[in-house]
Amino acid sequence: MKKRKSLRLSASERDAMRRAGAFNAELLDFVRPHVKAGVTTEQIDQLVVEYTRDHGHIAACLNYGTYPNAFPKSCCTSVNEVICHGIPGDYVLKDGDIVNVDVTTIVDGWHGDQSETFLIGDVSDEARAVTQCAFDCLYLGIEAIQPGGRVSDIGDAIVSEAESRHFSVVREFVGHGLGMKFHQEPSIPHYPNRQSRLDIIHPGICFTIEPMINVGTRHTVLDSRDGWTVRTRDGKLSAQFEHTILMTEDGPEILTLTKDGPQRGHKF
Ligand code: MF3
Ligand code: CO
Ligand code: CO
Repeated sequence: MKKRKSLRLSASERDAMRRAGAFNAELLDFVRPHVKAGVTTEQIDQLVVEYTRDHGHIAACLNYGTYPNAFPKSCCTSVNEVICHGIPGDYVLKDGDIVNVDVTTIVDGWHGDQSETFLIGDVSDEARAVTQCAFDCLYLGIEAIQPGGRVSDIGDAIVSEAESRHFSVVREFVGHGLGMKFHQEPSIPHYPNRQSRLDIIHPGICFTIEPMINVGTRHTVLDSRDGWTVRTRDGKLSAQFEHTILMTEDGPEILTLTKDGPQRGHKF
């Protein structure tokens, strides 16, 4: 049998993950004031490139995946109907857009991963409501878990909240364990399934919660030209928030808390 490293981190490994999460949050705070109308998503990427490099760390997204379709940029920028994995480019953010910026950094070999949806200027009630729902679902997912609890507690909390607001939860893309690898076990679906009802969140396990909430259908379409951009099938809006979480003996610890971003309970 293949021997696999335990997913349960030691005290020093937990501290390494805390440092990675803290830097990643600092990066998102650095980018934050620049996410506004008139800025291209490429300019946001360039800020990620520079801040990460100037601090001696590595952007995990750049070249992530396999040839010939490795991810070409250092963060994901997902605008309006883009659910996730939007590629920064010449798109100019405009009043009324919502854009998710997803950053992942490798700090001394360990990963921090998080994202926020930003409202650009004056947005529609629907855009604000779906953004609020994704944010609330992230925190409800975090609050639903405890050491020794089940991964499905996350999905149960998220689906019931999203559906009560008449929004849908994306199934094809999920949260994930992370550590020295970007994506590893356990899978963290934002809806309950057979596996998540079995998976236990032991102290020392590190993972993301990153619900993608859609205004309309939950179904997705992958852009066949770039092989990355994921959109809603009906073209309606989608929003997402993500944190890296460490389960401790005392409960979940959020490793990617920002100084300037929306805090628990925030109203958009
Ligand atoms: N940051 C994304 C996540 O939350 C993954 C992006 S992979 C990339 O898991 F290649 F698109 F960058
Ligand atoms: Co992630
Ligand atoms: Co991410």
